[in-house]
Amino acid sequence: MKLLITGGAGFIGSHFIHYLLKSRPQAEVINLDLLTYAGNLENLKDLESEKRYRFVKGDILDTELVNSLISGCDGIINFAAESHVDRSISGPGTFVQTNVVGAQRLLENAKKNKMRLLQVSTDEVYGSLGEQGQFTESSPLEPNSPYSSSKAASDLMCRAYFHTYNADVVVTRCSNNYGPFQFPEKLIPLMIANARAEKSLPVYGDGLHVRDWIHVKDHCAAILLVFEKGRAGEVYNVGSNEEWPNIEIVKRILNELKRPESLISFVKDRPGHDRRYALNSSKIQKELGWRPEIPFEKGLKETIGWYLNNEAWVQNLLTGEYLKYYEEQYS
Ligand code: NAD
Ligand code: TYD
Repeated sequence: MKLLITGGAGFIGSHFIHYLLKSRPQAEVINLDLLTYAGNLENLKDLESEKRYRFVKGDILDTELVNSLISGCDGIINFAAESHVDRSISGPGTFVQTNVVGAQRLLENAKKNKMRLLQVSTDEVYGSLGEQGQFTESSPLEPNSPYSSSKAASDLMCRAYFHTYNADVVVTRCSNNYGPFQFPEKLIPLMIANARAEKSLPVYGDGLHVRDWIHVKDHCAAILLVFEKGRAGEVYNVGSNEEWPNIEIVKRILNELKRPESLISFVKDRPGHDRRYALNSSKIQKELGWRPEIPFEKGLKETIGWYLNNEAWVQNLLTGEYLKYYEEQYS
């Protein structure tokens, strides 16, 4: 099996490449990544001399480049995206370019070359839940942020390519991921970095927004299973029933680092902030036999440990562009 992985230098994509090469000894990977602020080749440093792995710097919007790379490939898995909700609020344009136009170009490439494409989508396409209920694959798509709207557009474009052209497309909609190598703009690594530096921890609104947290390794296993065995044209929810309010996670991080709760600072809420996400994943469980394996409390402890042991990885990112972003976002 030879795959084109797009966005493989980011958080989830780099985990997936490691997972694929380890669990499928015959697999080969071409990793196409534009290396935006979120792309980091440090995440793949151990693969530099791996013969089954090749990195190409480039844009998923570059149809000719993609076309040349996929000759001889068996499929495409698209991780490439602008992925941060807060950045989508201050600058939605690049989200439309990469997440919508880029994804459509990849679909066109996959269709022409008659190969499977897996689109890595998100539970955020469903919008927000109240205190009760879960999203199923047939829940309406009601995205609320420019990020989730752009992901919903590409998700629906997959549906259109299947129904209109009979293209071999599968979609996964996963909940919030956590684990090593996550860019420090996201909740968990940001709070770990700030707690460590004894800086204030900015919690949006009342801190009672709920996310269903899944370890990135469990997500990667689900993606490979859906790519190999999922039915064309189908969508699979991937969640782990680990619902935690933000404030509870922040307190656990402080507790683990032995820092005082007085570091918590409740700040202005994110506009259009979704209150709660929860996923019903019985379809992937029943059809493909997938199960999440890493309980959140254990995974969170290990993740905190990883960040503490890999301070240099974090420090390399806390420069230039990121500090400017942080200042604008939190000042
Ligand atoms: P990330 O921001 O860490 O990585 C995105 C990667 O895409 C980066 O390496 C970046 O350089 C690359 N990229 C961006 N624009 C590109 C372009 N035009 N061409 C080629 N490469 C480009 O994101 P992530 O958290 O790893 O998420 C990966 C995918 O999973 C995204 O599609 C995201 O929407 C989806 N997803 C993420 C989560 C989550 O909790 N992080 C949950 C569900 C779904
Ligand atoms: P985030 O990691 O940005 O993921 P998403 O918005 O895709 O769910 O945020 C997770 C939750 O944490 C979300 O409810 C927003 C909240 N949050 C804060 O309270 N403070 C912060 O500084 C950040 C980045 C997020």
